Amino acid sequence: MQQKIMELCRRRGIIFPSFEIYGGASGFYDYGPIGVRIKKNLEDILRRKYVIEDGCFEVECPTVTPEKVWIASGHVSSFTDLLTECAKCGESYKLEQLVTEQQPDDLKNIGKVDAMKMLVDSGKLSCLKCKSTQLGKPYAYNLMFKTEIGAGKQRQTGYLRPETAQTIYLPFRRLWEVVRKKLPFGVMQIGHSFRNEISPRQGIVRLREFTQAEVQYFMDPEDKKTESFSEVSALKVRILDKKGKEATLTLKQAVKKKVIDLELMAYHLGVASKAFTDMGMAPEKLRLRQHRDDERAFYSTDTWDVEYESKAYGMVEMVGLSDRTDYDLGQHQKLSGESMEVNIEGRKFVPHVFEVSYGIDRPFYCTLESTYREEGEGEDRRVWFSLPKEIAPYKVAVFPLVKKDKIPQKASEIFKELRSQGLYVLYDEAGSIGKRYARADEIGIPACITIDYDTLKDDTVTVRDRDTKNRKE
Ligand code: GAP
Repeated sequence: MQQKIMELCRRRGIIFPSFEIYGGASGFYDYGPIGVRIKKNLEDILRRKYVIEDGCFEVECPTVTPEKVWIASGHVSSFTDLLTECAKCGESYKLEQLVTEQQPDDLKNIGKVDAMKMLVDSGKLSCLKCKSTQLGKPYAYNLMFKTEIGAGKQRQTGYLRPETAQTIYLPFRRLWEVVRKKLPFGVMQIGHSFRNEISPRQGIVRLREFTQAEVQYFMDPEDKKTESFSEVSALKVRILDKKGKEATLTLKQAVKKKVIDLELMAYHLGVASKAFTDMGMAPEKLRLRQHRDDERAFYSTDTWDVEYESKAYGMVEMVGLSDRTDYDLGQHQKLSGESMEVNIEGRKFVPHVFEVSYGIDRPFYCTLESTYREEGEGEDRRVWFSLPKEIAPYKVAVFPLVKKDKIPQKASEIFKELRSQGLYVLYDEAGSIGKRYARADEIGIPACITIDYDTLKDDTVTVRDRDTKNRKE
């Protein structure tokens, strides 16, 4: 399935590996003309939810950042993966990945450094390339891309940001003025992040440059609440908690039974789950997973992911939600010497941050996998993406039935009229009508309009539905 999807993506200009003419570099993908449209639509679903409906502000900050930022955040010392290299052929591996693939019984030890090192020593893991069990001593490998800022004596070390989050915390004082000194407020940023992942081999699910859509809510620690929980509380969700217990509950039940401690967390898990189903993912494929105490990031007191159960990649984390407390603002206050404190009615404190951190590339793949359809054999074989209208790269395609008798002119008029309404519309007059339907289906266009002799007579057109193939005048 994954191969079929990726082949279709390459052929139709949805996504394809970057730098192909120079042999490529794993972990980098281009979004082609169709892919860009789908990706922007996924981003807009999140913009609608967080910026329009929830009133968050949007910012755009640099991707190159001075070293001090990442010393303060803890990334210089702790943003690492365990790396092991094959002593025979030199191939390098993220140790966690090897354990996941070769010793699934030891998954409970993922993240436990000593347990994973023992697996290497015991010879239970082997190189995927040459099969040797002689793997080198694992060591912590920092995932940030290092660079230089400036020239000559003024040159300083910089890093490409591994998350957008920190770049939102840095201008906190300015944002505080913009919101006229009131909590809570949310700030969203959609932009690129960079991680020098060890041997990424999972398409756009693990990239070295990827897009994040992160929302940081600045909150009063004594008031980490939401008034909107009732909007999602009836949603039934699959849950795996930090103790490994599975359950299917409504979000309301999950809060009542204290499976999810914070109502605010449950609310945002519900909003994220709804966003993913709006993108076209099947609800039964989603799971909420709480991070175990020994795997949780150093900055968080509680973290939950929303995962998608992918046929190709297993459970894929698409968004992470964390209660980051006052850790980040506190750290930047310490290292920069700039106060991050606010004063609300005489109470002085550093605000807490509740984070909702989406990737875009992973939901992009999961949406394609969830909406991929095929039917028929041989000449009758048909493949399509059953994308929701909001996600489709074009809302509609316009076809003249034939290339004569003023039909193309009429079709072109209708095409221009639809386009002038701000819709993305595809015009296609090449090949048989059947071939044009097939091409439109392959990129998930929900409806095709055919202009024929009746259109010239009485202005009626034939509308054909992508999913049912039904046609209506
Ligand atoms: N600010 C918190 C943070 O960055 P994360 O769990 O490391 O948390 C958040 O990343 C999201 O970013 C993930 O849920 C995933 O969707 C996306 N992401 C992380 N690393 C990625 C990678 N190498 N390739 C593609 N997406 C990635």
